[in-house]
Amino acid sequence: MKVQNLEGVTFGSVVTELDIETMGDSEWNDLYELWIDRALLVFPNAFLSDEGQDQFALRFGDLEFPRAAISNIGKDDKVHFEDGDEVVKSLRGNEGWHHDSTYMPIQAKGAVFSAEIVPESGADTGWADMRAAYEELDSDTQERLANLNAYHSLYYSQARSGYLPDKQNEDGTYNLYGYHDMEVSLRPLVKVHPVTGQPNLLLGRHAHDIVGLDREESAKLLDELNDWACQPPRTYHHQWTVGDAVVWDNRRLQHRGTPFDMKEPRRMWHTRIAGDPSSELAINHQTDEIPSDDVERHPTGTWAC
Ligand SMILES: [Fe+2]
Repeated sequence: MKVQNLEGVTFGSVVTELDIETMGDSEWNDLYELWIDRALLVFPNAFLSDEGQDQFALRFGDLEFPRAAISNIGKDDKVHFEDGDEVVKSLRGNEGWHHDSTYMPIQAKGAVFSAEIVPESGADTGWADMRAAYEELDSDTQERLANLNAYHSLYYSQARSGYLPDKQNEDGTYNLYGYHDMEVSLRPLVKVHPVTGQPNLLLGRHAHDIVGLDREESAKLLDELNDWACQPPRTYHHQWTVGDAVVWDNRRLQHRGTPFDMKEPRRMWHTRIAGDPSSELAINHQTDEIPSDDVERHPTGTWAC
């Protein structure tokens, strides 16, 4: 296994000379330690098999959901590109910085993500290091933020960006992943990483309404923190080549998609690793309750991030 840390960035490593589908336990142990330390691992030219991707993700923990397409190619094989199209709206939403599934009762632990069809330009994926951001704050601000909690909701983030789905149920819900009718998840602004014990900011587009602040004050603080936190040297954007795979630590990193010409097809595969109830359960959820499986998956295969 050859490891090259990303240059000029506070996190991330490129790993080569390792077959992540066939590696043994000793290589896995080294890789897991590296993941905990670097939070993002990039595997160029990995060409994971369908099953291999989920098997690799399962090394990190249970799955929140198995390999699913993040794509503008519909089930009918047509490319979705028009403004207002349901698939396009879902993908556009992903372009705001976020941690995955903070709007669910259990925040995701991480994700394996791989590239099958890549457009000519754009469509990079960015990550931002919320541990480095926290460490950069002065101690007064660290202390102030440590006492604050915010709600996380996909209704909020998609509505704010103008990307809510069209088809709404009578009770205001949507039959899509993430739009649940349970209590809105409440999470601390400073999360202590369950493995390293190191604090990091927990922000992103799904966060809103900090308890104790009025709505505008909260939005202003969250926007300012997000804008500041997601800046170099705490950010890395990966330009995809077909066959690349990555795995990231969603407890520490935010991520986002970036725009591309949606007339060009793009298909990525995302396996989401479930967080641990002991450390990723929202403050106001007592159980690891998740929406039942009868929630209709998006017909064109796009998933909330
Ligand atoms: Fe995401």
